[in-house]
Amino acid sequence: MKLNITETMLRDAQQSLIATRMSFEQFNDALELLDKAGYYSLECWGGATFDSCLRFLDEDPWERLRKIRATVKNTKLQMLLRGQNLLGYKHYPDDVVRAFVRKSVENGIDIVRVFDALNDLRNIEVAVDEAKKAGAHVSGALCYTTSPIHTLDMFVELGKQLEKMGCDSICIKDMAGIMSPKAAFDLVSALKKNVSLPVVVHTHSTTGLAAMALLKAAEAGADVIDCAVSCFSGGTSQPPTESMIYTLEEMGFETGVDANVVKQINDYFKPIQAEAIKSGLLNPIVMSTDTDALTYQVPGGMLSNLVSQLTMQNALDRLPEVLSEVPRVREDLGYPPLVTPTSQMVGVQAAQNVLLGERYKNVSKEIKAYLRGEYGTAPGKIDEALLTKVMGDEKPITCRFADLLEPGMEKAKEEIGDKAKCIEDVLSYVAFPQVAEKFFDKREEKARNTVKYTIQAID
Ligand code: CO
Repeated sequence: MKLNITETMLRDAQQSLIATRMSFEQFNDALELLDKAGYYSLECWGGATFDSCLRFLDEDPWERLRKIRATVKNTKLQMLLRGQNLLGYKHYPDDVVRAFVRKSVENGIDIVRVFDALNDLRNIEVAVDEAKKAGAHVSGALCYTTSPIHTLDMFVELGKQLEKMGCDSICIKDMAGIMSPKAAFDLVSALKKNVSLPVVVHTHSTTGLAAMALLKAAEAGADVIDCAVSCFSGGTSQPPTESMIYTLEEMGFETGVDANVVKQINDYFKPIQAEAIKSGLLNPIVMSTDTDALTYQVPGGMLSNLVSQLTMQNALDRLPEVLSEVPRVREDLGYPPLVTPTSQMVGVQAAQNVLLGERYKNVSKEIKAYLRGEYGTAPGKIDEALLTKVMGDEKPITCRFADLLEPGMEKAKEEIGDKAKCIEDVLSYVAFPQVAEKFFDKREEKARNTVKYTIQAID
């Protein structure tokens, strides 16, 4: 039996463990090995890499992608896209989404994995359509979560819709690492039975379930699993590539991945891991197992956000109350999966409800937008009393929010002017306006200094 492996080292693993701070220079010399190992794909772009390149690493994210492509000639390059939110937190107009997806593929992406936080598939339609037109493999992702309404049938129905939309594979995306081995087995089995597309499984080791879940997913017939090379695996990252290959090959699965090459890849990244631990960039806490997410049904990242939020407000003793308020808020909102941005919205609201001594006395503008339908349709029913309290007579929108947005590319081109040297620059600017503009200024400055230096050298 064939079971493919995606290596997440360059994207999710480093995003989950070291806040996406690994520069191109740091991994450049590992690219040949990564290409040689026999992975199904390398997840290397999208998610937070784009923002981090511009904001912290002084790198042009597009150039990073082209440079990876220049070395990685045989293995598919994969990105993660937040549907109509692209790589950010708000909805972009369709012309921006289309331009962004097209340029991603033109610059080297083979596989576009696309998801919507609420599993409102209208929010990924345009990205899927454009990625298909650009010739990419589209992996439609389902955000996995547990709630009374997130039944097997609901996920199967979503899977069928992804197939109808033209997706080439379906990805089960368990961002919180709460999918149990049994749930993984049942879900993969159900999807394989009802949908004729390959099934990809993505999870995180946060709660300690992930490796077991991947094993059961493999037994149920999953086609691809996401792993991270061992020194950047575990904790909030993915299960270790080497251990998964070891286990699966022994059980008769063929991964096509050369364990000797993976060892060399791990040897390459080990000193980088050591350095990250020494500098404090890699906090041992994120590498350890945290089962609280299972007890409280909130993702690990959300729990630590709540702890720091309450600590800042000198109210850490209220944590148990806030944790019991989280599921109530989530229920009121129609059970959104807890993933960026809904996890933050629900957490902040639950804390306010407790600290102010009255539920929904204060409602954030994000929750208001959510109630207006701007993030899409909630998976379940939103509480009527809450809707009335916040919205009054105003009716939520029922259309796709992006249908209400004016086109954005021409406006952005005008705004940024000749600081943008190409469409990719304009897209960086649309995605992260202030950050990109600052990056362009610095780049200009650097170019000028290089010229000056050259002249001085001649003198
Ligand atoms: Co992930």
